[in-house]
Amino acid sequence: MAYQSPILNVMIMAARKAGRPLIRDFGELENLQISMKGPADFVTSADKRTEKLLIEELSRARPGYGFLGEEGGVIEGKDKSHRFIIDPIDGTTNFMHGVPHFALSIGLEREGVLVAGVLYNPITDDMYYAEKGHGAYLNNKRLRVAERREMAPSLFATGLPFMGREGHARATAEMTAVMAVSSGIRRFGAASLDMAYVAGGRFDGFWERGLKPWDVAAGIVLVREAGGMVGELTGGADALNGGTLLCANEYLQPQLLKLLKGAMPDKASG
Ligand code: 2AM
Ligand code: CA
Repeated sequence: MAYQSPILNVMIMAARKAGRPLIRDFGELENLQISMKGPADFVTSADKRTEKLLIEELSRARPGYGFLGEEGGVIEGKDKSHRFIIDPIDGTTNFMHGVPHFALSIGLEREGVLVAGVLYNPITDDMYYAEKGHGAYLNNKRLRVAERREMAPSLFATGLPFMGREGHARATAEMTAVMAVSSGIRRFGAASLDMAYVAGGRFDGFWERGLKPWDVAAGIVLVREAGGMVGELTGGADALNGGTLLCANEYLQPQLLKLLKGAMPDKASG
């Protein structure tokens, strides 16, 4: 049986509870998809409601803990040692398009250190969780990063910028470098789940630019507890706040970092 401390249990229960209405919303989206109005407002309100539900559930069990949320920003708590970092729907574009690949994400910081993470996809009922020092799990199954040491047999995931976001040329250059030496690249659209897939050895590595703490907080704990390495694309260690992220096992992480750093001359960093 997987180890679940009281606080991890609280996070798991909150994710399940806040995720339940999203299952109904997801069904509703199929109808909205084909209407002229489109699903954007509907998705925004589902997002906000989910974050509110998460905050209510977590605050009930742990009054005083602070929050950093995608929708609501910073909520200072009386307890300055603990902060939840939450993303109500990571993979919003997937959700909006009826693609069942998104997750509620909850990370927990204690004294500024990430100590627990929960990711829940309510459609597939996949519950990923990890606590510092106690391993990473999918449902009741222990997760381990893949053992591969060479680029050639390895499968990678990334996230790509879209309209209105910068870095298109750089993303193309990075993919060109990685696709030439690996078994390929996937772009599934939810950074948190990409990290969970690295934790479980499905992907050998993942990188993305333009990420926020709530996109990656839970995923960082999952990958580390599955034996993987997480850092920034600059080589720095602040994967939570750094805005760029690279994760893989200890053998591939340095290789992938070197490859990505050399992918594009600095002067053309578009
Ligand atoms: P989201 O679904 O919560 O927006 C896809 O490439 C990944 O990037 C998703 O995890 C997505 O999270 C995140 N993402 C998309 N737009 C973003 C933005 N403007 N800032 C931070 N993260 C973003
Ligand atoms: Ca997100």
